[in-house]
Amino acid sequence: LKKRDAVAILLAGRALAPAKAEGRGAAAANIALCKYWGKRNEELNLPITSSLSVSLGELGTRTRILPCAGRDEVALNGQPVAARSKFATRLSSFLDLFRPAAEFRFRVETDNSIPTAAGLASSASGFAALVLALNDLFGWGLDPRSLSILARLGSGSAARSIFDGFVEWHAGAAADGMDSFAEPLPYEWPDLRMGLLVVSSEAKPVGSREAMRRTRRTSVLYEAWPIKVAHDLVVIKDALREGDFDLLGRVAESNALAMHATGLAAWPPVLYWRPATVAQMHRVWEVRDRGLRVYFTMDAGPNVKLLFPREEEPSVRESFPDVQVVAPFGPEAG
Ligand code: PMV
Repeated sequence: LKKRDAVAILLAGRALAPAKAEGRGAAAANIALCKYWGKRNEELNLPITSSLSVSLGELGTRTRILPCAGRDEVALNGQPVAARSKFATRLSSFLDLFRPAAEFRFRVETDNSIPTAAGLASSASGFAALVLALNDLFGWGLDPRSLSILARLGSGSAARSIFDGFVEWHAGAAADGMDSFAEPLPYEWPDLRMGLLVVSSEAKPVGSREAMRRTRRTSVLYEAWPIKVAHDLVVIKDALREGDFDLLGRVAESNALAMHATGLAAWPPVLYWRPATVAQMHRVWEVRDRGLRVYFTMDAGPNVKLLFPREEEPSVRESFPDVQVVAPFGPEAG
């Protein structure tokens, strides 16, 4: 099954004809507390395991899409993006799935409130916002589940960015991926804070797709990963239900470390950490030993994301002067 076939199932005969002059969509970035790490189907971005994330509140992507002539045009944060760049070619090949006619071209204007260069999960909110904008432009009126599946075809973690708050992406088992979608979880933690620590804004040496493939194929530790995830998902959901922040933090930190450990045992090895990444991890452990309630997680890059409750914000700012604090449920919420 190709992406195109999955799109045909989801659109179920809906027209590929613009219903209005332009479409708009907005989506928050998300950070996984239990990671998506390994695909069972690389074409459809079908994961080996389920995963669970929290959205980043006001940090995310806003996208406007409209028909245009000649060739696809892409603007990122108000600047034109070169057609041959990785960013524009990835976008154009996704848009190929939705062209009303072979010669049809799109103009996409996208604004990221997350620093794109900092490698902080901008593809997740990017593809989610794009799918929402397409749904608006074409007037499909798709349900959230179908939108989540469409976003997944762009980037796996984008399936989760269709929703805000805590979100679970069900791995599913079907070959066509129709049961592999995200759903919001019914928990709100207005006091939850995340801290972004940008260690390096250099492009990552290995993309997540290649890192997952390599790890799955060559790392002896990968066998343990689905077992770890099955356990962590249960415990994170217990923690959410009981409002147990420290349990959530412990499991999220341990899950991230386990994910990175699988890469270390791959060949060629996958290690995203820079010396400054490790220094920040030690700093977290140090201040936690002194009683601060702070935990970390990390994705396919060198940057560190902190998790802490609102009342720790002054101490966290003191210990991590460069931290950017995010309130997933809104700054006024707590
Ligand atoms: O959606 P992708 O292909 O960019 O993969 C994201 C993988 C991680 O960020 C490392 C984990 C996750 O669940 O977001």
